[in-house]
Amino acid sequence: SKMLYNDKIMERENLIDIEDRGYQFGDGIYEVIGVYDGKPLMLDEHLGRLERSAKEVQLTLPDSIGDLKNKLLELVAGNELAEGIIYMQVSRGTAARWHEFPKADVSPVTVAYTRAEDRMTDVENEGAAAVLTEDIRWLRCDIKTLNLLPNVLAKQKAVENNAIEAILHRGETITEASASNVFMVKDGEIWTHPANNFILNGITRRKVLQLCDELNLKIKEATFTVNELLDADEVFITATKLDVVPILKVDNHMIGTGIPGEATKKVLQAFRSLYQ
Ligand code: PDD
Repeated sequence: SKMLYNDKIMERENLIDIEDRGYQFGDGIYEVIGVYDGKPLMLDEHLGRLERSAKEVQLTLPDSIGDLKNKLLELVAGNELAEGIIYMQVSRGTAARWHEFPKADVSPVTVAYTRAEDRMTDVENEGAAAVLTEDIRWLRCDIKTLNLLPNVLAKQKAVENNAIEAILHRGETITEASASNVFMVKDGEIWTHPANNFILNGITRRKVLQLCDELNLKIKEATFTVNELLDADEVFITATKLDVVPILKVDNHMIGTGIPGEATKKVLQAFRSLYQ
């Protein structure tokens, strides 16, 4: 299959240097974009977030966003990808290993590739379980950086417990999950953590909030506690490709009546209409 390496689309091969700063320091940023029926979903929004992440870590993107967008579309077409994802990352470049930024003549390294993946229809329809774990990440979770070790450890805990996700809490406050945003429904209101430095403002999250508004579902972008989550009528998570997944069990607690709830199903249906 083909990959994007800086400004070239080429056959996939490993061109990453052992002193790539993404490899050594996690010094870079990334995006994962869902592809449905050959079309990337909300590509402009993902590229907008990439620009913001770049700015927040003082990384200058090598290409204009317009050029990058065209290259990603060319990559999807070249790989004849129908269902799956685009993964792309930009590291601060390759230079002798010193923590501080390299000299200005060192260019960032951009890579992107595609991966075929089936739609997650079954888990979206049927729901899944989650576990709780302490959020041990840094205080800039709003930046989509390559540093994912706390997320990796959390997701591993989920998988070891036959759960789809690890829901993170900072003390008593639910923030998000290891690779998705968390919503709860209580007395007809849809709650999710506000978009600040404690969470990644998901592209799916933003779209779901917009859809809730259109569906006249009342939104509360406000924090809620672990106990409030366990006591919710419905819980769901959102992320690229997972779309909207009902959470029916958190640790050993059943959520609501243990089946996907009405509000969750409405939101899922509305989300699917974006690509069906
Ligand atoms: N993860 N929160 C975290 C910590 C995430 O890593 C992600 C996405 C999300 C959801 O964001 P979005 O709706 O834009 O995908 C929330 C991607 C999919 C990943 O790392 O694979």
